[in-house]
Amino acid sequence: MTVTRVLTGITTSGIPHLGNYVGAIRPTVAASRMPGTRNFYFLADMHALIKVQDPAKVQRSTLEIAASWLACGLEPDNDRVWFYRQSDVPEIAELTWLLTCVAGKGILNRAHAYKAAVDKNRAEGEDDDFGITAGLFMYPVLMAADILIFNAHKVPVGRDQIQHIEMARDFAQRFNHLYGDHLVLPEAAVEEHVATLPGLDGRKMSKSYDNTIPLFCSREQLKKLIFSIVTDSRAPGEAKDTEGSALFQLYQAFASAEETAAMRAAFADGIGWGDAKQMLFERIDSELSPMRERYNALMAQPEKIEAMLREGAAAARERHGLPLMRRLREAVGFRDLSKMPRILEVKASLLAGRAFVTEDGVPPKQPSIKQYRDSDGRFYFKLVDGSDRILLQSLSFENPKEAGNWVSKMKNDGHSSLALINNLIEPIDQTLENQIFVALDEIREIEIRRIEKKNS
Ligand code: TRP
Repeated sequence: MTVTRVLTGITTSGIPHLGNYVGAIRPTVAASRMPGTRNFYFLADMHALIKVQDPAKVQRSTLEIAASWLACGLEPDNDRVWFYRQSDVPEIAELTWLLTCVAGKGILNRAHAYKAAVDKNRAEGEDDDFGITAGLFMYPVLMAADILIFNAHKVPVGRDQIQHIEMARDFAQRFNHLYGDHLVLPEAAVEEHVATLPGLDGRKMSKSYDNTIPLFCSREQLKKLIFSIVTDSRAPGEAKDTEGSALFQLYQAFASAEETAAMRAAFADGIGWGDAKQMLFERIDSELSPMRERYNALMAQPEKIEAMLREGAAAARERHGLPLMRRLREAVGFRDLSKMPRILEVKASLLAGRAFVTEDGVPPKQPSIKQYRDSDGRFYFKLVDGSDRILLQSLSFENPKEAGNWVSKMKNDGHSSLALINNLIEPIDQTLENQIFVALDEIREIEIRRIEKKNS
């Protein structure tokens, strides 16, 4: 069975409100229980630094958001569900640099958040980049690293984040094109049927409108806020519109279909706003109160959360982040230098115009790449050493041209072509790895000399 890796990040720059709960936390926690998925949820504290430069605030928000997600039922088991802090995974910062070196600056110029900041500066007659940090500019690259380090397939996000996922795909594609097929191209998963929750004033609930209801405020505070929701001036007994009513939409987000139908009928029958608010309060409070209790208990034990997050990061790194990063380092050329001692030797001898001479004085046959059609009618190539032993065997190709192109690539690039053909060959026998490296580089040298000869 193929598993789908789902990943999402939560910026630790505030305290969750009901809109976050309905729009993100509740659906995401439910989705984490879907069979056939692996789920990576993390606190994006490195992203938070772009907006919040008050260390105490970053710390507090990290704790509050972690406690909120756990209180809402997230159950990290470090097997199907990982919950960690971005800054505990150093491979994310490392990958950010590798991606920075393939990311087009022009693409980053077009990022919505950066463009909005530039537009604001222009409107105010400032320099384009006035007050804009490179952190804001690089936001999409860091986000791409978050996603790509765990080879996530699906990234549940709000509409405003779709562009970021597209950029992550773009960077991954460029990386793969240069270095071979290492990174999965992620897809945004936008929940179409999750309603955006209205805030106290009827506009979308959002911190920037200052119209939010904190998820875990006290019962009393919750009641007070719900009673402050804006309604029209219709008196009890007058029929009320459900359409456009923030109160009704909030109710619907927490109620079953039957309860919603009953509330709709009550609106038509002219329920008083006070009674409707009381019903809304009770409905929301009954869903939140067990979670509020868990939240308060968790907040009283920050050391437990700390340990859990650390374990999450360690487990996710060990199982996914480190192996991938090891591969990527190899792919870009951060390699063990001791692994190619013979290459210099080969090169020196070839440059001197001598072939290797074995003990009995006979020049050994050289390694070569053979291209052929098999009885299944499909096309293959294989790398063989001087005594025709197979060092590397390709999978099959539909057409000979494709196989031929890979063979030329290998001849031109030597051992660095390995990263590119990685997914087109049978698994390599690890004990032959060194020989494969050397053979490919030898073939490359032969090719260079052949071309030089032809041209001279
Ligand atoms: N940018 C996301 C937001 O503001 C948070 C985030 C950071 C994220 N890294 C991520 C989301 C990786 C998904 C995947 O909501």
